[in-house]
Amino acid sequence: MAGMPRVFVTRKIPAAGLQRLQAGAAVTVWPGELPPPPDILRAQVAGCTGLLSLVTDRVDEALLDAAGPQLRVVSQMAVGVDNIDLGACTARGVPVGHTPGVLTETTADLAWALLLAAARRVVDGERFVRSGNWKTFDPLHMLGLDVHGATLGCVGFGRIGQAVARRAHGFGMRVLYAQPRALAAAEAGAARHVPLASLLRESDFITLHTPLNPQTRHLIGAPQFELMKRSAVLINTARGPIVDPQALYAALHAGQIAHAALDVTDPEPILMDSPLLQLENLTITPHVGSATLQTRDRMAVLAAENMLAGLAGARMPHCANPQVYATV
Ligand code: GLV
Repeated sequence: MAGMPRVFVTRKIPAAGLQRLQAGAAVTVWPGELPPPPDILRAQVAGCTGLLSLVTDRVDEALLDAAGPQLRVVSQMAVGVDNIDLGACTARGVPVGHTPGVLTETTADLAWALLLAAARRVVDGERFVRSGNWKTFDPLHMLGLDVHGATLGCVGFGRIGQAVARRAHGFGMRVLYAQPRALAAAEAGAARHVPLASLLRESDFITLHTPLNPQTRHLIGAPQFELMKRSAVLINTARGPIVDPQALYAALHAGQIAHAALDVTDPEPILMDSPLLQLENLTITPHVGSATLQTRDRMAVLAAENMLAGLAGARMPHCANPQVYATV
């Protein structure tokens, strides 16, 4: 331990990653079930060389100041880094690690679980049976939506969007995608690049896969819901604030779209008095896109590897602010 760089880890993480980290650092793990409150996080990180963060931690100027100038690495166990002020880290020469790739397929699986659950009313059916209401086969009851042959619209077509689209081909779906840049044919496969407005008008299932940034905050709001089909299903496994929650409530309540299936919300966790939770046409899970045993192990190991590389002054395997290497 003596002489090893000090690293603070903001929550218990899978042992595979923790052990890897402990081989090269003196590690303190926050033991709480909930994230460390900001003042405690600031106190804990003071004097550390590395911070291993989660999406629930705000890494901003105040935290970097509290950490002190010896902080050399932030390594986040997530692909998204919208909770981190990347500009502030870069300005201080601090590389920020993240974990792309290892969670792509797992997150795409969850987007599909939500899509199918919403289309075929799996959660409604479960509630119906458990509450003792299943009396007979009913030709007019629990009617959902066909998935096969429908049109899937991917808003954002990076790794996860493309993985969701690959699964759609097995369902014989037509796939559209919207993002600023059209992909080369080899990457896009049979998916067609269209403007966002066309995607919203034409899609039966709309699934969000953009990072959260100033351009994508409330990308889906009242004007976008107006374009959607009344039978449309919206799936969000990306970040809550990409959707305007008030506009979402209004659209679901008015039947302007059929259903929303959310793994992420704004705020997170959703408040228990949120009107969204009163709606029957909402399916919701607690930000579990990457939550499988195998994937969380892979994320923890990658976060440890990013950290150890950063501590050693080497280039991280996956750095979210690679421009930092040009400035140090
Ligand atoms: C989870 O939300 C992630 O960004 O990995």
